[in-house]
Amino acid sequence: MRDAAPTTIYLKDYTPFAYLIDEVSLTFRLDPEKTRVLSRIAFRPNPDATDRRFFLHGEDLTLISAKIDGKDIETRTVDGGIEADAPDAPFIWEAEVEIAPASNTALEGLYMSNGMYCTQCEAEGFRKITYYPDRPDVMAPFHVRIEGTEPVLLSNGNPGTSGAGFAEWHDPWKKPAYLFALVAGDLVNHPDTFTTKSGRKVDLNIWVRPGDEGKCAFGMQALKDSMKWDEDVYGREYDLDLFNIVAVDDFNMGAMENKGLNIFNSSCVLASPETSTDANFERVEAIIAHEYFHNWTGNRITCRDWFQLCLKEGLTVFRDSQFTADIRSAEVKRITDVIDLRARQFPEDQGPLSHPVRPESFQEINNFYTATVYEKGAELIRMLKTLVGDDAYKRALDLYFDRHDGDAATIEDWLKVFEDATGRDLTQFARWYSQSGTPRVTVREAFEGDTLTLHISQMTPPTPGQDEKDPRVIPIAVGLLNPNGDEVMETQILELTEAEQSFSFPGHATRPIPSVLRGFSAPVVLEQDIDNARRAFLLAHDTDAFNRWESGRMLARDALLRMILEDAAPDAAYLEALTTLMRDETLDPAYRALMLGQPTQSELVGLLHEQGHTPDPQAIHDASEALRDAKAQALADLLPGLYANNQVDGPFSPDADAAGKRTLANAALSLLTRLDGGTAAANQYAMADNMTLQLAALSALLDAGKGEEQLAAFEKQWSHDRLVMDKWFGLQIMQAAPKDTAATAARLTDHPDFSMKNPNRFRAVFGALAMSHAGFHHESGAAYTLLADWLIRLDPLNPQTTARMCSAFQTWRRYDADRQAAIKTELERILATPNLSRDTNEMVSRILGA
Ligand code: PHE
Ligand code: ZN
Repeated sequence: MRDAAPTTIYLKDYTPFAYLIDEVSLTFRLDPEKTRVLSRIAFRPNPDATDRRFFLHGEDLTLISAKIDGKDIETRTVDGGIEADAPDAPFIWEAEVEIAPASNTALEGLYMSNGMYCTQCEAEGFRKITYYPDRPDVMAPFHVRIEGTEPVLLSNGNPGTSGAGFAEWHDPWKKPAYLFALVAGDLVNHPDTFTTKSGRKVDLNIWVRPGDEGKCAFGMQALKDSMKWDEDVYGREYDLDLFNIVAVDDFNMGAMENKGLNIFNSSCVLASPETSTDANFERVEAIIAHEYFHNWTGNRITCRDWFQLCLKEGLTVFRDSQFTADIRSAEVKRITDVIDLRARQFPEDQGPLSHPVRPESFQEINNFYTATVYEKGAELIRMLKTLVGDDAYKRALDLYFDRHDGDAATIEDWLKVFEDATGRDLTQFARWYSQSGTPRVTVREAFEGDTLTLHISQMTPPTPGQDEKDPRVIPIAVGLLNPNGDEVMETQILELTEAEQSFSFPGHATRPIPSVLRGFSAPVVLEQDIDNARRAFLLAHDTDAFNRWESGRMLARDALLRMILEDAAPDAAYLEALTTLMRDETLDPAYRALMLGQPTQSELVGLLHEQGHTPDPQAIHDASEALRDAKAQALADLLPGLYANNQVDGPFSPDADAAGKRTLANAALSLLTRLDGGTAAANQYAMADNMTLQLAALSALLDAGKGEEQLAAFEKQWSHDRLVMDKWFGLQIMQAAPKDTAATAARLTDHPDFSMKNPNRFRAVFGALAMSHAGFHHESGAAYTLLADWLIRLDPLNPQTTARMCSAFQTWRRYDADRQAAIKTELERILATPNLSRDTNEMVSRILGA
């Protein structure tokens, strides 16, 4: 059980562990209720440690026996583990413990999913398997013996001896315990091979439940593409003879990079045209790449402690986004990354959960697998690369791999590598890791004589625990255009290092038009006092694809704000500009589909709140819908053509071009449905032979208040497929009218296929509830109560997923007094629950600001 008074862990308190480990041998005797784990660990005093305390983490373990150098010893139970008297010399620790994987619903440690054994050890789950110094700076080679009747028995590294009822594995690369993995079950594999650039042949497998074999080919190709890309772009080769991926239905996160044995949420690896949308395919590809890339950035070089999480995650997210940009469209990837950053990281950084990319304290590390650590962490790497340049970035990365291979490293190590490789002082840049909050960058322009001057200032509002901020170094990419639309200055990087600074561009006979923060060169909020004529000009002429899109987004944003605040009609100039863009056949369909999008309702809430207004969720919803209707009207003549011309013939391919066309055709369909009442959508539903088309058609129908029949047919067709049924659950909630959202979600929890033990299904319902903005924030408060009820129910079973889902409430202070009071009541009700987990306790306390 969790302790009553949670303790806070601080980065500044780091000390090395008293011992080093030369070798670990583990034997597992598998049994659902009584698995025995035998460990034999060779310890030796750590010359760098001052404290000789022999403490091993352990949680929910039954200790059967403990020996040091063959003799039974006394152990003392202490908070979070055990202590023993150990020699100040090398010794062998042997222990036998018992654990119960079948009753492990937290999905951390060794647990069972559909009769299959699997593990999840990051961040601190290994301590639920055996007593061990469960911290990433303790690394060792592992030998594993699995005894069980399951046909497939897997662990990390290379296979050793195996026979009836057992298998042995040896991982020669020393690793921290969080990268340990074990899988045992009735699995089938999709095999392949990859030959590395130095000519070593690697066996590859994707292991799935019988019946899922047909959904592995795409993931396998993504794996091979990732292996090749990491060789070509980062010079990194794979280092074992075998690489296994296993698909698991019950998993708290997306996937896990265990050495040589990645374990995936089945939703992030299985893909087939009939069951997966284009977005699913792209996500599978990106996550396979992400976990594979961790082999170097995370596994070969790991983190000294969990405060350094962004060392592996920020860098690996950056690497997977480079990969996607390379094999798909770089422009589209940049825009979708920024949409995601603004939707998930900005609200976090601007609310009660704001924390630095490298946090300085935590109660439960699982609560820090956040958009800030991952996505903002990746933005920091991107800025670093922008500041030092591509060549220096490459040199620095080579030095990083060279210098730190086999290390458990820190952010200081990472920055030192860049300083040594480039001669640049990164003291100021380091503030990006320690200061929380999103900087606001304000740009003012002046033109005098032939000189354009940009006066740029930065300010970061206070965040929890950080009232004062020092100026950061912010790379601001700027280009200049002539009034006729020609570019007169290519993109340059301005380095903003002061609170206020001016940059001059002489030699312009006519006043040039700046395009600022091209490519979204820094994760900031840009405040630029420019009018809609300027935005329309940039939308038409900017050579930077990101800023072109951004100009359209700003026009849409402005139109929506005026509709909400002033009851204005949808902006005609914006609709006109959109029409021109949709006619432009030279623009990539995926890019045009992005142009058709508009700011989300929660983004509008953030803006209104910042501007001192009290957002009204229903009014925001109505304005968003009205703008969509207006787009449908304005584009009425074009929509049939956009729809017809972007149909993809021939066998389904998830490649970027085909997917881009389907995205545009489906965006057109969704608008078209507002005009034809669903005729085209019903037709598409009837003809659809892939999930991208089927789901988009169903979604359009439900949006139009139709589609009852199709919804029932869909359920019948897909009731055997968990991942497709997740879509069925979520879609109904997302397409419900705001007044019906909570009732729809409540009704679905009564469906026989609803289970709160499966995180995907729980998220399908409650993630959709939280994301249906106007429904979640409906004035009845019903959705708040429903979510809180279920979080309270889930917490004793699965604290990690419960705690993560609490973030649905993080923006509560943006709303009116009644809504704030309603949410506060629910948060306090959660907090008052007896035996609340440390995870949920920490999250709710932080959200409340308590
Ligand atoms: N390390 C995993 C990843 O980013 C995420 C993860 C964290 C998975 C914790 C499980 C538990 O790739
Ligand atoms: Zn990761």
